[in-house]
Amino acid sequence: MIISTPDPVPNQLNAPYVPIVEAIRTRRSIRRYTDQPVSHELIEMLLTAASWSPSAHNRQPWRFVAVLTPATRDSLARQMGERLRTDLSSDGVPIAAIESDTNRSYSRITGAKALIIVCLSLVDMDQYPDARRTNAEYLMAAQSTAMAAQNLLLAAHGYGLGACWMCAPLFCPDVVQRVLQLPDDWQPQALITLGYPAETKTKTREPLETRVLWR
Ligand SMILES: Cc1cc2nc3c(=O)[nH]c(=O)nc-3n(C[C@H](O)[C@H](O)[C@H](O)COP(=O)(O)O)c2cc1C
Repeated sequence: MIISTPDPVPNQLNAPYVPIVEAIRTRRSIRRYTDQPVSHELIEMLLTAASWSPSAHNRQPWRFVAVLTPATRDSLARQMGERLRTDLSSDGVPIAAIESDTNRSYSRITGAKALIIVCLSLVDMDQYPDARRTNAEYLMAAQSTAMAAQNLLLAAHGYGLGACWMCAPLFCPDVVQRVLQLPDDWQPQALITLGYPAETKTKTREPLETRVLWR
C-alpha cells in the first residue's frame, strides 16, 4: 500500500505511475504521531525491508536498535537532552533558547510510538594499513547504513507509518551507547522516529538543473 500524501513535487515529466517511484516521491518526514501503537511485527517488517539494501561488499554494516519500551525511550530522550543542553550552554546560547531546543527534542523523541536507532559497525568491513583507504572504507559503511535507513523510511511510508530521521545520535554517540547498552562496535548514526501520522507535510525540491550536470 502506498499512502498518498499531498503532492510534494509536481510531476513535471508526466511520468507513468510506478509504485516505487510514487513511494519515493510522496514520502515526507513526519514528526507528529497519533496514539496508535506500532506493532512489533510491523517494526520487524521495516527492519527486514531495510536489510535488503545494497551495501559495500554486501557486508551489511547496519545495526538497528528497536526501542518500543516507553521508559527506555524516555531515558534516552532525557539523557540526549542533557548533552544537548551542555553543548548549547558552552556555545553561549541564551537559556530560553536552550530550554526550547531541549524541550522540543524531548517531545519529538517521546512523542514517537517507536524509535529505531540506526548504527554502523565496522567489524565486517575491510581493514587497511593507511588512512586514505581506511577512510574510504568507513565512508562506504556509512553510505550503506544510510541506504538502509532510507529504505526503512520508504518501507514505513509504504505501510502507512510516518517517520523522521533525526541526526542527534551523531552528536552524542556515547550517551546512546550507554543508555541502550550497545555493543562496543555499534556506532550510533541516527534515530528514526515512527508512528501513525498526525500531520501531513508538503516539501519542494530545488530545480534539477541546479543539482545535475550532463556531459
Ligand atoms: C542526514 C539527515 C539528518 C536529518 N536530521 C534531522 C533532524 O535532526 N531533525 C529533523 O526534524 N529532521 C531531520 N532530517 C529530516 C530533514 O529535515 C528532511 O528530510 C528534509 O527537510 C526534507 O523533507 P522531507 O523528508 O519531508 O522530504 C534529517 C534528514 C537527513 C537525511
